[in-house]
Amino acid sequence: MKVLVTGGAGYIGSHTLVELLGQGHEALVVDSFSNSSPKALERVRELTNGHFESVDCDIRDTARLSETATGYRPDAVIHFAGLKSVGESARKAVDYYDVNVAGTVSLLRAMEAAGSAKIIFSSSATVYGEPRYLPFDEDHPLGPTNVYGQTKAIAEQLLTDWAGQGEGRAAILLRYFNPVGAHASGRIGEDPRGVPENLMPFLAQVAAGRRESLRIWGDDYPTPDGTGIRDYIHVTDLARAHVAALDRAATASGALPYNIGTGQGVSVKEMLSAFERAVGRKLPAEVHPRRPGDIAESRASCERANRELRWRAERSLDDMVQSLWAWQSANPWGYEAPHEA
Ligand code: NAD
Ligand code: WQD
Repeated sequence: MKVLVTGGAGYIGSHTLVELLGQGHEALVVDSFSNSSPKALERVRELTNGHFESVDCDIRDTARLSETATGYRPDAVIHFAGLKSVGESARKAVDYYDVNVAGTVSLLRAMEAAGSAKIIFSSSATVYGEPRYLPFDEDHPLGPTNVYGQTKAIAEQLLTDWAGQGEGRAAILLRYFNPVGAHASGRIGEDPRGVPENLMPFLAQVAAGRRESLRIWGDDYPTPDGTGIRDYIHVTDLARAHVAALDRAATASGALPYNIGTGQGVSVKEMLSAFERAVGRKLPAEVHPRRPGDIAESRASCERANRELRWRAERSLDDMVQSLWAWQSANPWGYEAPHEA
């Protein structure tokens, strides 16, 4: 298939490109590099011997995006481009609505111009909000509790309405749980700008000597060891879910949400121990009060994805932490030379 990939230079996009090209698909990347480096795409080329073009374009530039899509005529679009920080979204709501919602409107216009009817969308477990029951299944009511989550829920609704209004249209809404780890080669991985908000990139930077100590946000949750439990998924397993979703989109119509996780809950302390095993030494960590807005536990039911996408997560917790350390230790400053501390 010919696939237009927005945000293809980012963390999940770059890993998905490797899997897509490895499965014989063709790709065209559209990225503004606002949160990524063109070097990620060079590394993907090196890993795949793949030939693909990339266009430096903001998805909100509808004229340029339409021209790009019309020239390429993709069979499907995978839409990663977006802003993703919960904390930042509390300060920059308009930017989040502009990129995540208006950017998706712009992309749908470009797809319309190009006659493209299939889209795979990067949604997030954060659309569920506070759990009414666990594990979350796709019928769990949506109730995002932060601006970022709101923009994802609104984009899902937009895609659902769009998919219902034209023959053959399909929107596969992949609700990622907590993506972690890196490609087995250690050549591509997560390279956040500024101070990482998420647990694993922060911990990886502690191990690399870029940060002093992990702050454990609370050990008084009603969980066995008191720390928060999440459903971490290896980024390569997540990448492969997109390839599976392309097959599903080819024959489906309408909007279809799928949880993408492992179904296993892992606590912060368990994650810290697993990562220490991978690194081979203890890492500094101290307990702090809870982070506002955090929930005690999040875990996916992935039965629908297992059944309908014929996909399941295969990589273990050790695969996640070992691949993360292989990437971080070989690239302590990510894709660039040492930048901000
Ligand atoms: P990322 O920031 O590494 O990748 C996003 C890419 O989109 C970057 O390359 C960035 O430069 C590009 N981009 C941003 N705004 C753009 C714009 N206006 N026009 C064109 N390109 C633009 O993030 P990621 O972790 O790879 O996440 C990819 C998607 O998955 C995002 O939509 C994110 O919300 C979603 N998601 C991520 C996680 C996670 O924990 N990483 C979890 C759930 C959902
Ligand atoms: C995981 C656990 C923290 C950092 C967020 C978004 C979600 C998705 C993934 C995009 C929690 C604890 C964390 C730290 C810690 N992103 N923690 N010290 O909050 O589950 O999900 O990222 O869609 O939408 O909400 O992920 O990695 O921030 O936290 O103790 O320095 O680690 O309290 O229990 P979260 P996270």
